[in-house]
Amino acid sequence: MTVRPTLLSAPADMRPACGWGMEQFHHPRPVRFGRAEGSRPTPERRHLMDGLTGRVLEIGAGDGVKLTCYPPGTEEIILVDSDPFLRATAKDVAAGVPIPVRVIDGTTARLPVPDASCDTVVCSLVLCCAPQAQAALAEVRRVLRPGGRLRFYEHQRSCNPAITLAERLITPAWSRMCGGCHPAHDVLAPIRAAGFVMERLDHFSLYLVSHVLGIARSR
Ligand SMILES: C[S@@+](CC[C@H](N)C(=O)[O-])C[C@H]1O[C@@H](n2cnc3c(N)ncnc32)[C@H](O)[C@@H]1O
Repeated sequence: MTVRPTLLSAPADMRPACGWGMEQFHHPRPVRFGRAEGSRPTPERRHLMDGLTGRVLEIGAGDGVKLTCYPPGTEEIILVDSDPFLRATAKDVAAGVPIPVRVIDGTTARLPVPDASCDTVVCSLVLCCAPQAQAALAEVRRVLRPGGRLRFYEHQRSCNPAITLAERLITPAWSRMCGGCHPAHDVLAPIRAAGFVMERLDHFSLYLVSHVLGIARSR
């Protein structure tokens, strides 16, 4: 396991600008009511995109907040999201990006791209919402070329049993408010079970919630 000190010691001007944790939650409701002109990607989202090349599929892309973080080596960006409001917002952002972008309606249950057609799949704060994370990850493997990578930034169930219990208790209300998000979700086990090999994995706490940022290679 690697812990990069740069991640959480990012310059202050890169820290979330939207108050207590709100920038983390680009769910339909906060985006609809809270996306301001000054909304910026968090440092964690920026790290997710470091050094990307080739054709990249971003699943559950939301409002396209990360589009400005894609490096110039990216040949094509395909954004998939199931929410029409967020796709429309992402299309507006895509118009100002110097890399070809396609914004597509779709779900993680059946990603609308051919087998082995992507170099990387990017996923931030999505697997906690996907109703069947294991099926979603099987789809991710299907669309990745052999040796392709999944880059993920997700919150992860706490390893503290008291906190896990609290996460379970707040799940019904939280999930309703935050686009189906499940705070007690274990994201790492399904990634490994889907046949990915962890190449990089950072654990960190953000707003007292356990998070992971990693790169996993498709076998
Ligand atoms: C918490 S938001 C994260 C958005 C974005 N990735 C970010 O980092 O800001 C979760 C996103 O996943 C989308 N989503 C949830 N379940 C999905 C599914 N099964 N298939 C496709 N998109 C999904 C939602 O519409 C929403 O845009």
